[in-house]
Amino acid sequence: MTWQRRHVLATDDWSRAEIEQVLDQTGAMVEVLGRPIRRTPALRGRTVILFFAEASTRTRVSFELAAKALSADVTNITASGSSVEKGETLRDTVRTLTALGGDVIVMRHAASGAPYFVAERTDAAVINAGDGWHAHPTQGLLDAYTLRGALGDLDGRRIVIVGDITHSRVARSDIDALVPLGATVTLSGPPTLVPSAWRCGMTPRGTTYEPDLDRALDGADGVIALRLQKERQHAGLLPSIREYAKTWGLSEERVKRMRPEAPVLHPGPMNEGVEIAASVAHGARSLIETQVTNGVAVRMALLYLLAGTPEQVA
Ligand code: CP
Repeated sequence: MTWQRRHVLATDDWSRAEIEQVLDQTGAMVEVLGRPIRRTPALRGRTVILFFAEASTRTRVSFELAAKALSADVTNITASGSSVEKGETLRDTVRTLTALGGDVIVMRHAASGAPYFVAERTDAAVINAGDGWHAHPTQGLLDAYTLRGALGDLDGRRIVIVGDITHSRVARSDIDALVPLGATVTLSGPPTLVPSAWRCGMTPRGTTYEPDLDRALDGADGVIALRLQKERQHAGLLPSIREYAKTWGLSEERVKRMRPEAPVLHPGPMNEGVEIAASVAHGARSLIETQVTNGVAVRMALLYLLAGTPEQVA
């Protein structure tokens, strides 16, 4: 299939074939990363600008490693230390990044929709590395790749996503990636942290809401625990962090309710002892470090599909 997308802003309108193309391309990039020299010239002569106006470790570093593994030139811009700090508007920042000759702009921003605003104003390909509560498409794709690696075909599999659903761009992008691949998703979390329409049964296609986490986990094929996003919450949404950990935290006892060897994922950064026990985060079922490793290959695949030179992949 020939790749048609110019940008990766969200995957909510992607077909199964498009998602599978990215995951298959990721497999090819894993092979590149397994070579003694972890580098291919697919983006030689291209410039990738990493514009992170919000904090990040995994996403920013993995995009940087991905771009370098594809031989691109890479430039980092963060809000702190750039002219954004002096009040430069997003419109002017885009003009500047475009004038600097970026072929791909990878951006994270606190405002939902900011990558769409940028994509309309630049010739560069734009990749959304997380915008507000809206979407984190590369995380959704790497979670799908990780689960496919652990479970094989995702058709008919049931994955639980637990935690702060309302404020989670990861939850939305996980749903967007997993459901087209044939998985169903059970959402679980405190009613105050689940969108009211979803609580009332109007959940996205392929998903259901189960307020009882133990019931949600019974017989599940895998679980993704979300970070409790204290920075995005208004006060008073939870009785206490202790109560949250007791009711919604992934404990060793709880994960045993899933199928044997059903994996545990978390996008990071984790609040250990809150949404996930340390023994689960670092236990036998945990794929949390595998997610981080896979993040490089998934981002290589996307950079290559958007800006690569096909004959230079091998
Ligand atoms: N999962 C994720 O987006 O992590 P970072 O905030 O560290 O990039």
